[in-house]
Amino acid sequence: MIVKIKRQRSAGCAPYWQKFKYEGSEHITVSALLDAINYTDDLYDIDGNLASRIRWECSCMQAICGGCAMVINGVPALACNTFVDEVRGKELVLEPLSKFPVVADLIVDRSIIYENLNRVKAYIDSLAASDAKSHEHQYSVAKCLKCGLCLEVCPNYRPGGTFYGAVFANESYLITSQSADEKPDLVDEYKTHFGAGCSKALNCQEICPVGIQTITSIMKMNRK
Ligand code: SF4
Ligand code: FES
Repeated sequence: MIVKIKRQRSAGCAPYWQKFKYEGSEHITVSALLDAINYTDDLYDIDGNLASRIRWECSCMQAICGGCAMVINGVPALACNTFVDEVRGKELVLEPLSKFPVVADLIVDRSIIYENLNRVKAYIDSLAASDAKSHEHQYSVAKCLKCGLCLEVCPNYRPGGTFYGAVFANESYLITSQSADEKPDLVDEYKTHFGAGCSKALNCQEICPVGIQTITSIMKMNRK
């Protein structure tokens, strides 16, 4: 099969497309396919030109770290959690997420996610007594990978904008529900950086690889 990859040497360089031929089993993950392409003595593209190794990010290979998030045949997904033979299309087309700065090839810089959370003090500094009714959703939200897939598919999230997206709505719920004073300042920040911009398209919920029900976080935060 043909694997077409949007490449970029480093931040700020012009992107370009490069095609590779892959002849192994297609019942493997996109991560495993990238490894298979990279683990050759010399890497050549489909035209026989010597190519540099494809740079992409991973750590866990178990859909836990979020590092391998990329766009696979037009759909944002985790490469380690996506099987090649389940992806539609004759070619396999891989691109970096479009709403984050590209570091190199398929690697993007997602530090804006943490910078936004830090900016509005979305962290716990005094623990609340446990609340049995909230455990289930708190546990679900705590699984957030900070992978950025929800921001990639959100029609309202813009890089550098004031709308922080689903990852912030979920974190707002988690932090306010676990803090002794319920963080009234964070509730105000939620109004500004989420409530005022969300149009409830809920693409975030459809795409989330760990199945976080963002609508539940929104509902609970809107009540606050
Ligand atoms: S809410 Fe889901 S899609 Fe968004 S960053 Fe967390 S794990 Fe990724
Ligand atoms: S490598 Fe960790 S989520 Fe894919």
